[in-house]
Amino acid sequence: MKTILVVEYSQTGQLTAVLDALLAPLQQPDGATRVHREVLRPVPAYPYPWPFWQFLDAFPETVAGNPPPLTPLTVDSGSAFDLIVIGYPVWFLSPPPPITAFLRSAAGRRLVCGRPVVTVTACRNMWLMAQEQMKQLLAEAGARHCDHVALVDQGNAFATFVTTPRWLLTGRKGAFWGFPPAGVPTAEIAACRRFGLALREALQRDAEQQPGPMLGGLRACTVDPRLIASEKIGRRSFRFWARVLRWAGRPGTFLRRTLLAFYLVFLLSLIITVVPLSVLLKAALRPLLQRWLNTLQASFERPSGSATSRMACFHE
Ligand SMILES: Cc1cc2nc3c(=O)[nH]c(=O)nc-3n(C[C@H](O)[C@H](O)[C@H](O)COP(=O)(O)O)c2cc1C
Repeated sequence: MKTILVVEYSQTGQLTAVLDALLAPLQQPDGATRVHREVLRPVPAYPYPWPFWQFLDAFPETVAGNPPPLTPLTVDSGSAFDLIVIGYPVWFLSPPPPITAFLRSAAGRRLVCGRPVVTVTACRNMWLMAQEQMKQLLAEAGARHCDHVALVDQGNAFATFVTTPRWLLTGRKGAFWGFPPAGVPTAEIAACRRFGLALREALQRDAEQQPGPMLGGLRACTVDPRLIASEKIGRRSFRFWARVLRWAGRPGTFLRRTLLAFYLVFLLSLIITVVPLSVLLKAALRPLLQRWLNTLQASFERPSGSATSRMACFHE
């Protein structure tokens, strides 16, 4: 029997639904696999829906990788699992604090050290920089990252710029005023079953002990090359501002709130002015940069990739 530890954090339940679909084939009564789900609980818990200022105030500590403590894990940190799945949403181009806390803790490091790890994310549309940090956290903990699944919200960048914050700040997810519903399409979530089927088949032939991905050919993660530059620039600017805001004081203090308000206005004016210009510039330069972008895309899509060659094999 193969044992699987699932480490997860989800506020609205979207990531939980993704993991439910993915894990269903691994939770069959045949006893071939046993799944333990470890839900991370930060202290204090983050609110959902988010009060506006609290949402912004979570930014500096998230980006700086300075998480709050977690309640003790329910799993014994000395357990040796055959496979570990880590499910996380993206917060401010970073892994959310509970996941950082887990991967930095002695118990978390002990659990993942030397183990194959599959990462699964569901976010608005920007997961590249967060996943790069996940790779680094996993490497520091001695884990072997073998696969990555990434799902993104429905609608174009403008639509999700409206629908995702509306969902997080009000709890309302439905379609409105011509905008699509917020979040990942339900059919995409249900289709995550294919990853569970592929993992079940891979575990049967001990593929988790071999180098290389188990979820290749299943359209596990597709990088949008148009977002690569924005993510890199955004991450750099976030890190600078996170340092300034942390210097300004603890969450909720007057100076920090004033600076946060200033940063928000600055960010929105950048989004309204610089982003449309950069879109035009990128479109103009695309023919020149195409080969370089293709290389970057392939590198960010590693290890699982966006190929679809095995989709038909894991359709049930
Ligand atoms: C504080 C916060 C910051 C977020 N930042 C990003 C982001 O930088 N990029 C992104 O694609 N999604 C971002 N999101 C959206 C989440 O990745 C995710 O789609 C949403 O929170 C629902 O996830 P969950 O309910 O499974 O936790 C953010 C969400 C929160 C709460």
